[in-house]
Amino acid sequence: QIRPKIEAHIREVKDFPKKGINFRDIMPLFTNPQLVNELCVVIADHVRHTVGHVDSVAGLEARGFLFGPQVAIQLGVPFVPIRKKGKLPGATIEASYQKEYGEDIVAIQEGAVKSGDIVFLIDDLLATGGTLRAAANLIQKVGGKVGEAFVLIELAPLNGRAKLPDVKLTTLISYDSA
Ligand code: PRP
Ligand code: MG
Repeated sequence: QIRPKIEAHIREVKDFPKKGINFRDIMPLFTNPQLVNELCVVIADHVRHTVGHVDSVAGLEARGFLFGPQVAIQLGVPFVPIRKKGKLPGATIEASYQKEYGEDIVAIQEGAVKSGDIVFLIDDLLATGGTLRAAANLIQKVGGKVGEAFVLIELAPLNGRAKLPDVKLTTLISYDSA
């Protein structure tokens, strides 16, 4: 069982980045490279056995980049970086998602996801769901399908899940308090 081991490496930082927010810091995990590797192997096995065939793994800037490439390497498929607008060179495709205040625009490079591709989407954490929603919109816009969206941590009270009714969502650890 990997979950308790991962949970033991998540540090709660009160009032970061703002007062009233309990920040869940995943960085202590990276003091334990063996556990990081075990985690990425477990995620890749989950993809093989539960999600099935995927054409690529897409990860979200920045903390999704800590896991996505490692999972993609395990699976032997390309890693697709999804970045905030204006960060990727060359031709890009953008998608936005309306948030409570303003909007979120994310981008991929043209050709990174093709029509019909099945994409495994990964990020560290689900809060309001705006980030994963924008990423799913982007993949769907180019004709791809999100095989599954996976996060290590779900902040359940923020109900990000509700924004992803069309996406299969798996979370390793769910917290009842945001
Ligand atoms: C955090 C987190 C998720 C996102 C979740 O990223 O890593 O990507 O917020 O929030 P949401 O569900 O409300 O959209 P953030 O943009 O803070 O920055 P980082 O990953 O670049 O550090
Ligand atoms: Mg992030």
